[in-house]
Amino acid sequence: MTDDRQPRPATTAVWAGEEERRPGAPTQTPMVGSVSFGYRDLDAWLGVARGDRPGHIYGRNTNPTVAVFEEKVRCLEGADAATAFATGMAAIAGTFWALLEPGRRVVSTRDTYGGTSVVFTDYLPRWGVDTVLCDTEDTAGIEAEIARGCELLYLESPTNPTLKVLDVARLAAAGRRAGATVVVDNTFATPLNQSPLALGAHLVIHSATKFLGGHADALGGVVCGDAGLIRRIFRFREITGASLHPEAAYLLLRGLKTLELRVSRQNESALRIARWLETADGVEAVHYPGLPSHPAHEVAARQMRGFGGVLSFALEGGMAAVERFLPALRWAHLAANLGAVESVAGTPATTSHVECTPEERAALGIPEGLVRYSVGIEDPEDLLADLAQALAVARTHGG
Ligand SMILES: Cc1ncc(COP(=O)(O)O)c(C=O)c1O
Repeated sequence: MTDDRQPRPATTAVWAGEEERRPGAPTQTPMVGSVSFGYRDLDAWLGVARGDRPGHIYGRNTNPTVAVFEEKVRCLEGADAATAFATGMAAIAGTFWALLEPGRRVVSTRDTYGGTSVVFTDYLPRWGVDTVLCDTEDTAGIEAEIARGCELLYLESPTNPTLKVLDVARLAAAGRRAGATVVVDNTFATPLNQSPLALGAHLVIHSATKFLGGHADALGGVVCGDAGLIRRIFRFREITGASLHPEAAYLLLRGLKTLELRVSRQNESALRIARWLETADGVEAVHYPGLPSHPAHEVAARQMRGFGGVLSFALEGGMAAVERFLPALRWAHLAANLGAVESVAGTPATTSHVECTPEERAALGIPEGLVRYSVGIEDPEDLLADLAQALAVARTHGG
């Protein structure tokens, strides 16, 4: 008797896309580096080229290792289809170029990832696409802009680096009423903690570089959702060529198998650390959706199953305190990344909002004393002790 119950996410992360068993086949998905795939039978070749039969022709279009990665993320997000890109930004920009045309109107928020903001402010306008960036915390204001006309609604929740939370179901409903395609960047939450498609989105995007891969050794991006939309996005990607490299897909696949273990630990540790930081000397404010003090905690509790592995906090003493605090951390890379097995810390000035001036960061509510801290899978006791001693360094040397 076969067990046809829907597997739970931890099982999906391990098995999805890899269930086929042929006698003597490798148990692990191999890294297929070949650029092209040969056919002696021209009919078969033609059939694959036309899409009438399964198979691969050329690596810019499709690749077997990449296809398994796409299938795993598709299953984790509960999507109809998925297509992978070389990076998260390639996935975001590719989605815009594939779906938008001059005269279209995009509604989004001011707090999207810095690279995404630059596409909104510098590139889309050049192509005649009007982008309105709303106050992230003003849900009624965003709804009003959507009602004024919106072909694409772009949401990111929680946001980078101040962990603001959008009411995805409410805004997706407003977007659908206006006839918009609703897109959600789910990088910070991961498919384990949040399912934007179930909340009403048409498409979900990930920077797979972050939690999906989890080991900071492979760049990647992926878009999943409605099959018709994914076909258009895939078409743009196969023509313009921002394809995921098979070696990166191999590493991302290996990382994905432990996604549930990693994210469970990171959820637990981040909540514990956020609670501790709220009472710590020298910390002005802590931003984490799992804290009851978070302004949108109730929304987060409704739409998220866990609150994620990233938090940020503002140090008393601004940038001078950050300059003492960061190098004192023992168990964190000081680097422009997040979602890895190692804890990673940085400031928006050198990471997510490196593109902005200090004035622009201030306008976004990002103080110069803010630290973004991505919690790794280390023992939380060690991380808490490390944070305590680094905060002491930040305080004692303050003048
Ligand atoms: C929320 C979010 N979306 C997208 C990206 C872009 O991803 P990538 O660096 O893989 O291009 C990032 C990168 O930090 C991010 O944090």
